[in-house]
Amino acid sequence: MKSLILPAPAKVNLYLKVVNKRPDGFHNLHTLFERISLQDEIRLISNASGKIRITSNHPDVPLDSSNIVYKAAEFLRQDFRIKQGIDIHIEKTIPVAAGLAGGSTNGASVLKGLNKIWKLDLSRAQLVSYGGKLGSDVPFFLYDTSFAWGTGRGDVIKPAAIKRKLWHVLVVPRMKMYTKKVFQRLNLKLTNRNDHATILNRSLENKPIQGIGRYMTNDLETIVFQMAPQLAHLKKRLASFESCGVMLSGSGPTVYAVTETEDQALAIRDVMVRRYKQVYVVSTL
Ligand code: C5P
Repeated sequence: MKSLILPAPAKVNLYLKVVNKRPDGFHNLHTLFERISLQDEIRLISNASGKIRITSNHPDVPLDSSNIVYKAAEFLRQDFRIKQGIDIHIEKTIPVAAGLAGGSTNGASVLKGLNKIWKLDLSRAQLVSYGGKLGSDVPFFLYDTSFAWGTGRGDVIKPAAIKRKLWHVLVVPRMKMYTKKVFQRLNLKLTNRNDHATILNRSLENKPIQGIGRYMTNDLETIVFQMAPQLAHLKKRLASFESCGVMLSGSGPTVYAVTETEDQALAIRDVMVRRYKQVYVVSTL
């Protein structure tokens, strides 16, 4: 096999509790990931130059060794003494640095793709181990599941047996939020101690979803809203429409509403696009 095209879907977190700070500086989390239908495309073509070459349609994507996809390819190339090079094209649709794990999903797709192109025959566990080295959100994308609970840094994945298709309106303000800064400023004493993970999971499995907003949590919201009050305002605006719940995704700046139907999501979008350029209607994938 010489070339391969792979989708790279984004995620939102329907639940994100920060459990504690770890000796390695990361935080232990309890989080519910949901794969959504907003996707980049990764195109891989084997080359004889021996180099890893990156191209992208998006000007903010780094094309050098700082890109997560470069690191993914380099890890595998070194460990398996691969002589061939690889051309990696990243066709971006997912907004960059938006709390949607755009970089992480690109990294995961490159691991999966190179496993095939270079015939490495790596197991899921091996891929997940490489994924964890690339970033905390990468392992989720190495599982073929719509919903999964993450623990540890978010890198220990347990697929969830949730069969729902949710609709979302994502509003992505034109600003960047750096995850590292958000975690650095987090005051764990100010995060609430409610634990609604079990009831959220049960509601998503087999209950009417209108009420799930009550159980959705993101411990990063308070600090992110302090850093960028316009996002608190955006959440209030979204909450004024009919929806099941509204929340910040990951460390932001994306704020999203969950709806039961596509029509509800489209109605919210039609209003939000007057004020925001990047508004997406997406579903569970
Ligand atoms: O793993 P990733 O590269 O996505 O993490 C970015 C930054 O976010 C880390 O350097 C760390 O400061 C913070 N982080 C954390 N705890 C996590 C995930 C990320 O403190 N579970």
